[in-house]
Amino acid sequence: MSASPGPDGTPAHVAIIMDGNGRWATARGLPRSAGHRQGVEALRRTVRAAAEQGLRVLTLYSFSTENWSRPQAEVRFLLELLRRFIRTDVAELHQANVRVMIIGGRDGLETGLRAMFEEAEALTRGNTGLKLVIAFNYGSRQEIARAVQALAARVAEGLLAPAAITPELISGELDTAGLADPDLLIRTGGEQRISNFLLWQCAYTEFVFLPEYWPEFDGQSLARAIGIFRGRDRRFGGLKAQTA
Ligand code: FPP
Repeated sequence: MSASPGPDGTPAHVAIIMDGNGRWATARGLPRSAGHRQGVEALRRTVRAAAEQGLRVLTLYSFSTENWSRPQAEVRFLLELLRRFIRTDVAELHQANVRVMIIGGRDGLETGLRAMFEEAEALTRGNTGLKLVIAFNYGSRQEIARAVQALAARVAEGLLAPAAITPELISGELDTAGLADPDLLIRTGGEQRISNFLLWQCAYTEFVFLPEYWPEFDGQSLARAIGIFRGRDRRFGGLKAQTA
């Protein structure tokens, strides 16, 4: 689905790879867990700022399919932070008319966590403000594989001709079905890679890489990234409109 910045050039959909929690903590002689805790504070600030700055969708990479390979204690801590965030923040997000959506694989997740995701989504389903999309147990290649499996099943049943498989049909099978593609992807922490995040959806997304660590991110950082985005010349593979 194509992206649609607002008339003043505000990106409708911003996706963020929230990187650098561990390094932020280590640089201060703190345990990595302290960085993740501050990361949640940055996340809260950013959700508020996103709504204030007029974004329609904010997608946050909170835990990747590859993050399970971290030490068990860190995985457990990150899961607990997410549980706590849903338990304590979703009611407030609901009050603020935010719609919460969770993308990523649900198979194999513990049932308590799945139930929490479903409750948060059900509670906020009717909200018309910012869409907050939390990517958890998310990997883009896995998401694409799930979409291909769903389409292949329809082909096998004789309900779909292989030649009828279009990019739009594939988009419609992804976890992000119905959402506009990100206009802007921000990665904090200085690394310049996409790490299996929204590979299909970022075909024409503008990337902004910031050196600051995620716990340092705030509304001003978001505004700065949006300023860089506004200065970009997006042609979507075509040519700039001729003025003469
Ligand atoms: C990257 O920092 C961050 C993560 C892997 C997790 C992001 C999680 C949060 C911001 C908090 C929990 C989320 C929610 C939704 C409540 P890193 O550990 O890779 O940092 P490093 O690259 O410096 O090691």
